[in-house]
Amino acid sequence: ASKVTDTSTQWWHVRRNELVELGRKNGAAFVYDRNTLKGKAQALKALPGIDGVFYALKANWHPEILKLFHDEGLGFECVSRNEVEHVMRTLPGLDRKRILFTPNFAPRDEYVWGLEQGIWVTLDNLHPLKAWPELFKGKDVFVRIDTGYGRGHHDKVRTAGVHSKFGVPLFEMEELTRLINASGARVVGLHAHTGSGVFNVDNWQSVGETLTGLTQRFPDVHTVDLGGGLGVPERLGQQGVVLTEFASALSALKAAHPKLTLWIEPGRYLVAEAGVLLAQVTQLKGKGEVQYVGVATGMNSLIRPALYGSHHEILNLSRLDALATEVVNVVGPICESGDQLGLDRLLPPTQEGDVLLIATAGAYGRAMSSTYNLREPAKEFLI
Ligand code: LLP
Repeated sequence: ASKVTDTSTQWWHVRRNELVELGRKNGAAFVYDRNTLKGKAQALKALPGIDGVFYALKANWHPEILKLFHDEGLGFECVSRNEVEHVMRTLPGLDRKRILFTPNFAPRDEYVWGLEQGIWVTLDNLHPLKAWPELFKGKDVFVRIDTGYGRGHHDKVRTAGVHSKFGVPLFEMEELTRLINASGARVVGLHAHTGSGVFNVDNWQSVGETLTGLTQRFPDVHTVDLGGGLGVPERLGQQGVVLTEFASALSALKAAHPKLTLWIEPGRYLVAEAGVLLAQVTQLKGKGEVQYVGVATGMNSLIRPALYGSHHEILNLSRLDALATEVVNVVGPICESGDQLGLDRLLPPTQEGDVLLIATAGAYGRAMSSTYNLREPAKEFLI
């Protein structure tokens, strides 16, 4: 038997009664904490050396979250026309220069449309310049560079290096320059994003060195975007990206290139810890030596454990102070064996109706959810 790790400083611990109530009423619910969201945005905005924080809204596009981040002075990084239109609808009057559009393998029409909007448009490879040079005549564009190495918590989220589909590789710089000149476009921004769930700040430092090194080739560049990817703690007690280290890497870069505008575009860092998934226990089952705790929602709400083997802490919110004495698999109601929210988890003796909390679910939770099995994913609440 062991006492559950001390969680008393977590926002959801402080508000546990309210959350248990929400879980009971809804069976399953994503809950986001406004104060935590605000705190994360303010922490990044305050970092010296960074001129712009563009929230990667693929992580979570809840309109209230977008409004809150807008009020904190963030911009928005969008990867599809629908994401751009969603931001514009949610934030009427938003300065178009606070939207960065970074599609990949999008159809021609999306570039035509994007360039008409007055937003920043990023080219992800040479095809648009080769096949549709007429679109870019006289236009200012960003180019996504493949720095040559991918980073991140899983192969599927490493977005640079020859095995990833993203970015213009360094060995294509000559050709890129030729195509840019031939089209009459101007490269005003350089962009890179090496992956997601990165903990070592060397990543952004070396990305910064690579991108600033390319500014000699593209003299119109005024902005360098180092991407997102900042990792957050997934296990209680684990350390996330150390912001002071991150800041000193960026400050050094800024000091060496004072005229360049420096942007970052994190998603996960801003929302992951501010969100939890609540799921009420539906059934208990023992089979052989394995105990199953079944809950009201599963991979239809949170696919990360099934897709990447990601770890999300699970606690029994109804019995937070009880001794954890049972090792269980927490599973959802979806008809796949991969529908597991957590394996071999130490929980207190659990009963039907208890509310479990699945932590760090604010990023890539609801955003990647589905109606698989025609089961609605958990509804969302801001508190
Ligand atoms: N910028 C670009 C161009 C991106 O592709 C991404 C994420 C981000 C920024 C934001 O990355 P973040 O700061 O959130 O790590 N579904 C996966 C993560 C995929 C991220 C895809 N791109 C997961 O649940 O771990």
